[in-house]
Amino acid sequence: MLKSTLHQAGPSVVLPFAAAPRRLADGVEWLLAHDDLESLLDPGSRFFPDFMDRLGQTLERAFGGQDRRALFEVHQALYLLSEDSMRPPRPGAGQNQFHPFIMRVRNEIERAWEAFEFGRMTLAPEEIPSEEAVFVEFIRDMCGTNSFAGHPLFNFLEHEADRGQIVDFFLHEATLVLRFCDLIVLSLLGADEEVRSELAVNFWDEVGEGSYQNRHTEQFKRLLRYTGVEMPEEELTSEHLSERLDWPGLAGYNLYVYFGLHRRNYFRYVGGMGVAEYMDPPQYEKVLRGCQRVGLSDRKALAYYAGHAELDIEHGEAWFTKVMGPLIRKYPETRHEMVQGALMRINTTADYYDYLYHKLAGPSRTAARKVGERSARG
Ligand SMILES: [Fe+2]
Ligand SMILES: [Fe+2]
Repeated sequence: MLKSTLHQAGPSVVLPFAAAPRRLADGVEWLLAHDDLESLLDPGSRFFPDFMDRLGQTLERAFGGQDRRALFEVHQALYLLSEDSMRPPRPGAGQNQFHPFIMRVRNEIERAWEAFEFGRMTLAPEEIPSEEAVFVEFIRDMCGTNSFAGHPLFNFLEHEADRGQIVDFFLHEATLVLRFCDLIVLSLLGADEEVRSELAVNFWDEVGEGSYQNRHTEQFKRLLRYTGVEMPEEELTSEHLSERLDWPGLAGYNLYVYFGLHRRNYFRYVGGMGVAEYMDPPQYEKVLRGCQRVGLSDRKALAYYAGHAELDIEHGEAWFTKVMGPLIRKYPETRHEMVQGALMRINTTADYYDYLYHKLAGPSRTAARKVGERSARG
């Protein structure tokens, strides 16, 4: 994907306007590396209005027209913008992280995406129960109705996929898995005392309760190496592996970051995280059985999926009763946002699983499936 122009824009180089790439994601990368963004906002310059015009057209094609190429550009651009807040710190990085030009571009993309996501939810606020125990039951039911355990992707992985296809699945999961600890950290920022300890339990589990070998990132890298993925250690990173993702994979990752970085999305984040932890374990069981079937059977190497198949049952229940519950009690008005976050996670994940099934199992199979199998969405 983008072979970084970050290094081309040295500190003393002012890039001419004509050098700006036309493709949105390339343009965003160029802006992030620019050493004089102020000059691009000069009232005498057409650069800013022209850039925003083009951005608006791309957003329209993406979310209005559901044009796949535009969706890829938009989610790749948003990924790069959020990377300025997420990537490991390196010398010279993040120079324009909070520049108004950058903020404006990011806001435009996020608002257009959010409007699209809100537009495909059918649940009315008055349908959401206000009493804590009933609310938690309501969320559990929502997860059951939208369960991905029966998604053909996981049946395919369990019963039919060959070893290469299973490894391809792992490589698609890597961007999110290798950043999940950082995403938990975002949920801890400013957390209310009533929920902080449960969030800290999630964090402590992510870092292997202090054991290097049991860190979830390390477990996942061990799995990749065991399956024969031969990449130098410096390439086994979330940012490097993101280059394999098309728009649904990027959108799935971007959603977590979008929720986690915005204070106004905090309760959506809690809802999205809660359903993710609650819904994923049955899928992990299927992945594990698929691994056994193709001869990937080393227990230590499979620790990531074996561990999460059990651990996330506990985490999911605890997100409902020890995080969402206490927050609903304290801020009842946030229950709609929690449900929004849950549905946004469910819908973007459905896009991702549909895409991945199509990619791994082949187009003819997915075309047949569309005749009636698609699960109902909220
Ligand atoms: Fe984990
Ligand atoms: Fe978890």
